[in-house]
Amino acid sequence: MSDAGDSRPEADRRLRVLVFAASLGKDSMNAALAHLAARHAARHGAVVDLASMREFDAPSYDSELEARGDIPAGALELNRRLTANDAFVIASPEYNGSMPGLLKNAIDWASRCRPQPFHERHGLLMSASPSMGGGNRGLWALRIPLEHLGARIFPDMFSLAVAHKAFSGETIADPRLQQRFEQNLGAFLDLAEAAKNYPCIKKAWVEFLGEPPDMPADRMETA
Ligand SMILES: Cc1cc2nc3c(=O)[nH]c(=O)nc-3n(C[C@H](O)[C@H](O)[C@H](O)COP(=O)(O)O)c2cc1C
Repeated sequence: MSDAGDSRPEADRRLRVLVFAASLGKDSMNAALAHLAARHAARHGAVVDLASMREFDAPSYDSELEARGDIPAGALELNRRLTANDAFVIASPEYNGSMPGLLKNAIDWASRCRPQPFHERHGLLMSASPSMGGGNRGLWALRIPLEHLGARIFPDMFSLAVAHKAFSGETIADPRLQQRFEQNLGAFLDLAEAAKNYPCIKKAWVEFLGEPPDMPADRMETA
């Protein structure tokens, strides 16, 4: 997309997207899906920052560490990489019908940074699993903390079932499924790119849950 009235260099207008899999496994199916997403996003015109979950790994959240200002390096790195990008794609395994603990822990730590890095960032969730459900339940669980933090999570999510048999080389063997994957990712990238370059919707929203508006309850920077 281009806008004759916008003098920003083309590079500034390109969507920057962080892509990572929430798995530490060397042969991770979700890492394979994240790589596929990264390649397709680059073909789609985005500037891709492909990360490894190892970069964001952190010890369990500990309020004593936080009180001392000892935010783990992995949490600071996740905050830095989210902030440097306009959008994010997470390929997450499903563990016991939910998200992996290491991902929730990384989200919890990063949520303590200010400005809170998930707020108003666009996100796409995907999963791969050997099961028939493709890890989709885990993504519904993952939506909750991310939406709670004000991330704009794309309504359509992609879950790859029987993932240990689904790949052919670096793509999805079934061409219709590969096409569905590309459509889902492309629709997300187009929406995030439009939100970056053509902001036209009311961005601020207020959720009143009866909490006093102060630091322990706030999830974002307040003026
Ligand atoms: C603790 C644990 C719980 C799991 N629970 C589920 C589950 O609820 N649903 C599912 O589809 N797969 C489950 N699995 C299997 C994972 O989907 C499988 O290990 C997958 O390969 C993990 O993704 P990765 O290859 O990207 O690391 C579980 C695996 C572990 C280790």
